[in-house]
Amino acid sequence: MCEHDAKANCFEYIDSQMPRVPLDLVVNGERVHEMIDPAMTLLDFLRVTLKLFGTKEGCREGECGACTLIMNGRPVTSCLILAVEAQGAEILTVEGLSKDGELSILQEEFIREDGLQCGFCTPGMLMSARALLDRNPNPTADEVKEAIAGNLCRCTGYKSIIDAILSAAKREREALRNG
Ligand code: FES
Ligand code: FES
Repeated sequence: MCEHDAKANCFEYIDSQMPRVPLDLVVNGERVHEMIDPAMTLLDFLRVTLKLFGTKEGCREGECGACTLIMNGRPVTSCLILAVEAQGAEILTVEGLSKDGELSILQEEFIREDGLQCGFCTPGMLMSARALLDRNPNPTADEVKEAIAGNLCRCTGYKSIIDAILSAAKREREALRNG
């Protein structure tokens, strides 16, 4: 149940006031050390503590996939994970997909295929797709559908998103072949 008064945002992070605990992990290739609220979710840690706002907050119940990121190579919904559970983990968020200011192939294909409208679901979609392509560089359309089954989009319909992931897979394979 929401602990805020009527004017406050129900999704706003509420500090538990418990004694701080140390958290060490790697986020997008950078070592991070913070003293944190042990009741804080990984999603809140990223958004509130690290100010990484790319990972979106939708339902906070594990239903929408907006908060998906990659933890130790697997896609996870960060609203359901306590930050302390990520002790020592390697985290990749949407901010880690681009390199030196250049969008990744996957991001480019989402744009080219019109795989987004409002973009709210897009970071989570991208991270589910990234995790899929990392373990399976040549997925079928059904495998793509399965990989993004936990990511809800209210705007685009899913065809353009699936097409974007399939064409990114093709381009990534070609890029690998061409060194
Ligand atoms: S905000 Fe995490 S699944 Fe919806
Ligand atoms: S683009 Fe708006 S929710 Fe997916």
